[in-house]
Amino acid sequence: MTGIPEDDAAPPEDDATTVAHTATNREYWDGMADGYAEPGRQRWAADEPIWGIWDLPQSRLPVLPGDVAGLATVELGCGTAYVSAWLARRGARPVGIDNSPRQLATARELQDLHGLAFPLHLGDAETTPFADAAFDLAISEYGASIWCDPYRWIPEAARLLRPGGRLVFIRNATLLMLCEPETGVATDRLLRAQFGLHRLEWDDPEGRCVEFHLPHGELIRLLGRSGFVVEDLIEVQAPDDAPSGHPYVTADWGRHWPTEEVWFTRRVTTG
Ligand SMILES: C[S@@+](CC[C@H](N)C(=O)[O-])C[C@H]1O[C@@H](n2cnc3c(N)ncnc32)[C@H](O)[C@@H]1O
Repeated sequence: MTGIPEDDAAPPEDDATTVAHTATNREYWDGMADGYAEPGRQRWAADEPIWGIWDLPQSRLPVLPGDVAGLATVELGCGTAYVSAWLARRGARPVGIDNSPRQLATARELQDLHGLAFPLHLGDAETTPFADAAFDLAISEYGASIWCDPYRWIPEAARLLRPGGRLVFIRNATLLMLCEPETGVATDRLLRAQFGLHRLEWDDPEGRCVEFHLPHGELIRLLGRSGFVVEDLIEVQAPDDAPSGHPYVTADWGRHWPTEEVWFTRRVTTG
């Protein structure tokens, strides 16, 4: 098939499959939660936000908008909820939602430790319990942005945002997904096709999990159909002083090709 697919608006998964990936990922993230507690602690303690796999500070990778005071925010797939903690300290009114009871248990411990309370919900970011147009900013750092089906979580984010509200999310770069082997670090070869890229099942040593990734064109069309305009896209380069490696990509790879993407979008119409 060539050209623009006419039917890529339809969620390619049926409800039963969706429930399956949500349950699979809950088990996976409950199992990962102990290992994410210490990084969560460090990020909660950081005054300046630190982003992504290269630990880039907000001054070098400005992910948080500068004007969040007073905004109602929702973090989709909040994990230990340090992004919401950074938002709360800047005057926002955050709410977090996550699918893993054990990740949320760490988040609650860290709320108590820092004396910083905000609502945390156990649930699926593809179908949240929140009211229409309840938020000014939706954000996801490797949460819904990679663990939820974009055909479901992006329209849901649009529903949650008031017109003019922003959706900001961080995910792996498309090129990284194409060069990523089943195990080990990214290579300089294309290992999977870009056409048809959507759902990826991994059999990690830690367990089975399901991730999602849409190529740029398909993602831009989906955002547009959901009522968003793309205002910026930062393709992240590993800095010269990056730690030498990451479990799935080397700093040398990341200096040549983008490892992560930060999408800045705004809801302009009803999706
Ligand atoms: C890598 S963490 C992201 C949180 C944090 N920013 C971080 O990088 O540690 C991924 C989180 O997404 C959550 N998640 C996975 N599927 C989800 C879903 N369907 N709805 C809400 N959260 C989900 C997991 O439970 C996990 O806490």
